[in-house]
Amino acid sequence: MISALIVGVLLIVKSIILPPSNFPKSIPTIPFYVSFLGAYTSMDQEEIYNYYMREKLEKYGAAKLYFASRWNIVIIEPELLLQLFKNENIYAKSGNQEKIPYSVLAQYTGENIISAHGEKWRLYRRVVASSVQFPNMEPIVENSKRFLDVLHQELINNSPIEIIDLLQRYTLANIGDSVLGVKFNTMEEKDTEIHKRIKHVKRQIFQPLYMNFPFLDKLPIASRMEARKEVAQFRSYFSNILKTCQNFGRETGASRLRQALDNNTLTEKEFTDNGIILMVAGHENPLLLLLSLFYIVAKYPEVQHKIRQENGDNEAPYLNSVICECLRMLPPLGQIINRRTTENVILGSNIRIPKGTYVGYNNFGTGRHRKIWGESADEFKPERWGKTPQEISRKYLEAKIKANLPAFHGRKRACLGEKFALEEVRVLIQTLLQMYQLSLDPNWVEKITPAGPICPLGLKIKFKKIEF
Ligand code: HEM
Repeated sequence: MISALIVGVLLIVKSIILPPSNFPKSIPTIPFYVSFLGAYTSMDQEEIYNYYMREKLEKYGAAKLYFASRWNIVIIEPELLLQLFKNENIYAKSGNQEKIPYSVLAQYTGENIISAHGEKWRLYRRVVASSVQFPNMEPIVENSKRFLDVLHQELINNSPIEIIDLLQRYTLANIGDSVLGVKFNTMEEKDTEIHKRIKHVKRQIFQPLYMNFPFLDKLPIASRMEARKEVAQFRSYFSNILKTCQNFGRETGASRLRQALDNNTLTEKEFTDNGIILMVAGHENPLLLLLSLFYIVAKYPEVQHKIRQENGDNEAPYLNSVICECLRMLPPLGQIINRRTTENVILGSNIRIPKGTYVGYNNFGTGRHRKIWGESADEFKPERWGKTPQEISRKYLEAKIKANLPAFHGRKRACLGEKFALEEVRVLIQTLLQMYQLSLDPNWVEKITPAGPICPLGLKIKFKKIEF
């Protein structure tokens, strides 16, 4: 009995320490403990990537990586990435609802337009894609003006402020007003119910221990059972908000979902799963990008100066090049592993991947790849994107097509909210820099997040009103 137990434990330990024997031999293995370093050391993702992953990934283009309770293949080489994006049926999308269905995270976002594959994905696209691709851009300008008013009230004695809360209010207001067609009022009021609830549920879900070992969510741990209950309550609260929203003569994300629910195109669960993901992806990802942009402009005064000089220029080429460079160096979603092979496949010329393997990509690694971006890959150089609006948009498009810049994913499954997200960050940065000079709080330690989505960690900014 005891020896059987010991053998069982040893087998579990082996399955964590070593990749499965049928995994490709032609690519290196990142040590299993690397994925845990962010949670248990003071290293951030850039340090972890540089020390433990970069050399291997830049040499081989892909590597074996232990992450979220299993061994995966992770890619940084654009040519390999394109194969992943193009062969949708071999590298089939398989989000958390399939990968870790028992987790609290999977319970939160369910099966949705981002995580689903095949017929289900096509169905969700038919229902919500138009509301994301053709949002009402008008409220963005109004929300950016409100942002300035709130900022003005919050600034006391020139003290630095942690800006994340206010930025989240801005991106929540935008996704509500422009895409979902639901008024969250987060720019009009502080501490709205929705904002408080989102922050609370996020704290419950994104706990390092359960992110690293999602199988622990299978156990009857009191705090996780409580988290499960709170996620269920949030889902029901949010679903009611979507159902009761008014359609002011314009089709919106919420009204499209409501129609699909009423005519039985979507089940109640599918309605909520898709509503939640539009709200989450639609405000969290732009929030991350804005945090990184605030960090960049605060760090480089000359960048602010050049953006200010473009005032009145609708094309704002320099600002666009700053955003491209920020997406390259600090892509909001640094690593995405959510495709599973549906058959045995050879990736590139010799990476033999068995059926049923999770394959993903490291956005951060592609953005810092020296073979693509040269020896200056770690330097912030917006000039690399060109000078004129035409040159910048051509280089940006080319980088996306070649998968040199996969920040918004690519091909058929590329992000639908890109245009909207870029517009809302542009408007806010332009509006803000006309009124304020930004600098980093000298006491803030320059670090990005240790794991998960990428942004500066606990960013604190000093704002100084510009005297005219
Ligand atoms: C800076 C902001 C954003 C970034 C960096 C970003 C990035 C991404 C990425 C990497 C994916 C692929 C995800 C995966 O495979 O798991 C994706 C998909 C998607 N994003 Fe975004 N996103 C952003 C903003 C938005 C916004 C504002 C919306 C609006 C609701 C949105 C809606 C979507 C949708 C619907 C998909 C799924 C597309 C499909 O598979 O058909 N995103 N995004």
